[in-house]
Amino acid sequence: MLSTKLRTHTCGELTKKNLDSEVCLCGWVSTRRDHGGIIFIDLRDRYGITQIVFDPDVSKEALKTAESLRREDVIRIKGTVKPRKEGMRNPNLKTGEIEVFIDEIDILNKSETPPIEIEDRVELNEDIRLKYRYLDLRRPMMQQHMMKKHIAMQAARNFFCENDFIEIQTPLLVKSTPEGARDYVVPSRVNPGKFYALPQSPQLYKQLLMVAGFDRYFQFPICLRDEDLRHDRQPEFTQIDVEMSFVEEDDIFEVVEGCIKRIMKETTKTDINTPFKRITYKESMDKYGCDKPDMRFSLELADVSEIVKDSDFGVFKSVVESGGIVKCINPEKDISRKEIDRYISFCQEAGSKGMAWMRMTEKGLESNIAKYFNEDVQKRLIEKTGAKQGSVLMFVADKPAKCNEIISKLRNKLGADLELYDKCEFNFLWVVDFPLFEWNDDKNEWAPAHHMFTMPKKEHWDILESEPENVIAQCYDLVLNGVELASGSIRCNNIKLQERIMNIVGFPKKDAEERFGFLLEAFKYGAPPHGGFAIGFERLVAILCGFNDIREVMPFPKNKAAQCPMDGSPSEITTEQLKDLHIKLDIVKKTK
Ligand code: AMO
Repeated sequence: MLSTKLRTHTCGELTKKNLDSEVCLCGWVSTRRDHGGIIFIDLRDRYGITQIVFDPDVSKEALKTAESLRREDVIRIKGTVKPRKEGMRNPNLKTGEIEVFIDEIDILNKSETPPIEIEDRVELNEDIRLKYRYLDLRRPMMQQHMMKKHIAMQAARNFFCENDFIEIQTPLLVKSTPEGARDYVVPSRVNPGKFYALPQSPQLYKQLLMVAGFDRYFQFPICLRDEDLRHDRQPEFTQIDVEMSFVEEDDIFEVVEGCIKRIMKETTKTDINTPFKRITYKESMDKYGCDKPDMRFSLELADVSEIVKDSDFGVFKSVVESGGIVKCINPEKDISRKEIDRYISFCQEAGSKGMAWMRMTEKGLESNIAKYFNEDVQKRLIEKTGAKQGSVLMFVADKPAKCNEIISKLRNKLGADLELYDKCEFNFLWVVDFPLFEWNDDKNEWAPAHHMFTMPKKEHWDILESEPENVIAQCYDLVLNGVELASGSIRCNNIKLQERIMNIVGFPKKDAEERFGFLLEAFKYGAPPHGGFAIGFERLVAILCGFNDIREVMPFPKNKAAQCPMDGSPSEITTEQLKDLHIKLDIVKKTK
């Protein structure tokens, strides 16, 4: 397939069809086995593995060179394709029916003993993998991940190109963008004391492209956010970023669904059903306690606050009286006492004061707290939670946000522990109708729930100031198996409305002018109605590869401390560079 001056084939393509051909292969020595004067080597490149044989009857000279070969040496061989003997065939390899008998070998480069095994089955320490990432990436599994990512990106690109979208790159050195994380900043040498921000997303620029008339735009931008890292968060990551003019939410859903459908088809050969299911943010919070529910299993929550406030259980009563809620989950399974204790610890580790429970028996609900629930309260609880004989009801009581946070984690844990879902399923869900604002307890003010440029539902324009808590945004998230995969909104292209929104979130006109003045200015000159979305590309590919950790699909990710063990970044810069950039490191020196 791939022939160059140095090789006729790759290590992944020779089959019985090539028997007796003369071939040249290049690759890395994966394993070497000495079988009484004959040497077998598994030669590896990114396409696969071919078994090559050094036989003294074919070439004594080549055999002699092969004796000096070590793992990961890079070689080029010339030889003849022969069938493998009966019993020596490997049905798991595409090349498993043949082997190549070697006439000539060139050692293209020697390798020192590699510090990590180039092997999928070996568990490796995270920092070692990242330090020697180029070796880690040689592992077949990582090569497959990169390949899948490449296919996914091409599938998306083809989809957009076929649907009249055009790919436009937006700048990397920008004015701060409004995604809500901290910015990475870059000092300007030629503008002393001034800084660029690296884009947290191309949000403002893609909106400006709409003002410019590019009504269907896409890009695979790298986004940079200085935030605490998690398994699905990296300081730099890729989005599939789209913006469209003259559209409503449904048009955007159709495009996202089409794009995802195409990616799924080309990467996993699966046909997924569209349109995806939709639920509102409110329904999601009520039933699942979070805005990204894993819908591969049902396990709905029951809000039992109104019932348990009539009990004699002081903990529940006082939580409800002080504005909190009590939610219950009924896994419909008999769970042992020991396991219940483990779930109590789990909730405590997640930040809960505890987790109450009751078991449904022939005599009614039983546990050390059951006595505080009279017959009537028990009856209402059983009815609301659907408890059957053997069910264990689990309760979390706290302020609404905390209660939801903890019980949704418990729901996910139960789903996984009780194996309530098929791990191979891909379950997509739209969560729609988010609130426009959310209350920031720390700052004691309203903040944009998505970002500042989201359009409120038309019927809520009148209540922006009077009832900000009830304003619903034209904003949506796409969730895959409990992971937030994409986000987007219809944007506010009405400058008066935009100013009102900025006022509510404590962004006086002067500050808004200073930070986003260029966008507001652009909106004066005929901004079309527009909206868009961004898919977290690594999150999608990681799930397609069967992982939650996005580092598994990133060639050079950072570790948990946002460092790269391979190149040693971030690192200090020279005094000369600092001087050029007009920067003095007084604070760093003091804290050292
Ligand atoms: P948002 O900030 O929700 O929206 O980001 C969109 C998607 O990007 C992914 N994502 C991340 N992936 C890896 N590491 C991170 N640190 C990280 N942060 C976010 C998530 C998320 O759903 N401009 C808007 C989109 C729009 O409105 O068009 C935006 O960036 O999968």
